[in-house]
Amino acid sequence: MNSRPHILVIGSGLAGMYYALSVSSKANVTLVCKNNLFDSNTFWAQGGIAAVMSQGDSIQRHIADTIEAGDGLSELNAVTELLSKAPEVITKLLREGLHFTQNTDGTLNLSREGGHSNPRVVHIQDRTGEYLIKNLASKIEHTQSITVIENTQIVDLYMKDKTCVGAWAINKTSNELVLIRANLTVLATGGAAGIFKQNTNPAGATGDGYAMAWRAGALLSNMEFVQFHPTMFYTKSGNSFLISETLRGYGAELKLPNGSSFMKQYHKLESLAPRDIVSRAIADQMQLLKIPCVYLDTTIFSEKELSDQFPYIFSQCIQFGVNPARQMIPVVPAAHYFCGGILTDTSGKTSIPGLAAIGESACTGLHGANRLASNSLLEALVMADNCSRLTSTYLVDQIYSGKPLLNIAPANLIHDEQIQQTASPLELQNMMWNFCGIIRTETTLKLFKNVLTQQMIEIKSNIRKYGLVPALIEQMNRTQTAFLVTDAAWKRKESRGCHLRRDFPKKLSNGVKSIAIPCIDEQLIHIFENTISV
Ligand code: SIN
Repeated sequence: MNSRPHILVIGSGLAGMYYALSVSSKANVTLVCKNNLFDSNTFWAQGGIAAVMSQGDSIQRHIADTIEAGDGLSELNAVTELLSKAPEVITKLLREGLHFTQNTDGTLNLSREGGHSNPRVVHIQDRTGEYLIKNLASKIEHTQSITVIENTQIVDLYMKDKTCVGAWAINKTSNELVLIRANLTVLATGGAAGIFKQNTNPAGATGDGYAMAWRAGALLSNMEFVQFHPTMFYTKSGNSFLISETLRGYGAELKLPNGSSFMKQYHKLESLAPRDIVSRAIADQMQLLKIPCVYLDTTIFSEKELSDQFPYIFSQCIQFGVNPARQMIPVVPAAHYFCGGILTDTSGKTSIPGLAAIGESACTGLHGANRLASNSLLEALVMADNCSRLTSTYLVDQIYSGKPLLNIAPANLIHDEQIQQTASPLELQNMMWNFCGIIRTETTLKLFKNVLTQQMIEIKSNIRKYGLVPALIEQMNRTQTAFLVTDAAWKRKESRGCHLRRDFPKKLSNGVKSIAIPCIDEQLIHIFENTISV
C-alpha cells in the first residue's frame, strides 16, 4: 500500500469535518458532500455540546443522566468512555481557537437542557453548530491533503469481496458517474429526520448513510428510536425552525393556550423532563384538547435579555410575527434525531471491513432508547477523534492499482429531470408522520411496511427505466430508511424511550437492542453492472 492512504469521508457535519481534519496529517482525504460544505444538521444545532466542565458537576452524574434518558438501552461501557473524554475534547477545541460563550468572570457559560441534573452544555450563543462548522470549514480550506467535492450524490458503497473499497458517486453538476477508491470509507452522513412531515432537519437528511450501508450488508441497530424534539416553532404550513431546549433550561415554561402549566402531571422535572416525555406530553395535550400546538412562555424575560441570550431564536420569532417578550411562542414536537443507526463501537468500526461510521449515522450504544440533549455533538467529536487515532488499523488494501478517482460517465446511466415529480418526498413524509410517528400501533405499522415494500420495488423499476438520477437515489434512501424504522417499530412490542406503542404501553423487564435484518436487495449500482467497466 502507498505510504499515504486515501480516505473517503462522506458527509460534512461535525463528525465528518472533524475526522477529516484529525486524520489529514497521515492520509489524503476526499470529503464528499451532497450539496455544499455548510449543508448539515450540525450547522443548525443551537444548544451545544454536553461536557462536565465545572467544579460542582461530575462525570458520574453525566453518566447517570444519560443512562436514565436512554431508558434501559444505553450501553454502560460506551457511555462511560464517550462521556469521560468530553472535557478533554472541549479543552482541545478551546486551545484550537473556538470561542465558547463565557461568563463575565471568564468561565464557560454552561446552559441546562432537559434531563440534565446540572448545567453542562458548552455553547456559542444559540448558534453553536454554525460557528463550529464555519471554524472547521476555514481550516479545511487551508489543508492541502483534504479535497472537498461538493454537489455529489453517493450511489452506493464500492464493495469487493465483502470489503468496502470506496464508493460510486454522481457528480450533480456534470452528471458523471464517478468511482472513488479508498483504503477506508467513513460514513458521516447524519440522520434522517427529514423523512417525517414535521422535522427540524435540513432537506438533505434523507438517511443516505443508513440505506447505502444496509444495501452493502452492514448491521444496523435501534432504528425505531427516532427522537422528537418537543419544541419546533409552529406554523400552519409545516417546517419552520427549532426552539432550543436551552430556552426551557433558562426558565421558559410550556403552557396551554389559556396560559396554564401542564407538565407537572407528566414528570417531576416538568418542562425540563427528558425529551421523549415532554414530546409525548405535548402530543397528548394536543390530542386531548384538539389544539394544533402548545406554547412556550418566555414573557417573563425582557426583549433585551432574549435578544442578548438567544439572538437567533429571537430574530426568527420576530420574522415569523411573534415577539417572544410579549407573546407565548407556539410550538409542536418534530422529528429531530436518530438514536439508532449503523452498528459501531465508540471508534466507528462497523461490521464491514474498510467501512467506518461516525456521528448520527452510527449507533454506539450511547443514546440507548432516547438521547440526552446535546450528547450528540459530543459523540460526533469523540468518535471522530477515536476513529482518526485508530485509522491505521482500519485500512484495507485496494484490490486494484490506479487513480483514486475514475470518471465513467456512461450516457445511458443519465436521464433528464422528468422524474423529479415522482420522487417528491411529501407522500412518504406524511405517511411516516401518521403511521410511524410519536404514537405507533400494530395495524398501521404492518400496513405501512407492506406499502413501503411495494414502493421499494417501484423505485427500483424507475431507476432501471430512467437511470441513476440523484432524486431517485434519494427517494430510495428515504424509503429504505423508512422501512428500517417501521420494521423495527413493528417488531418492538413495548414502549420504551422515544418508541411509544399504543397497543403495548408497558416497558418489558429486560430491554434488548434491535438489529435490522440484513438487506436482501442488491445494491443500486448492480442494476447497471453490465454497462460499467472499471
Ligand atoms: C436544542 O438546542 O434543543 C437541541 C439540542 C440537541 O438536539 O441536543
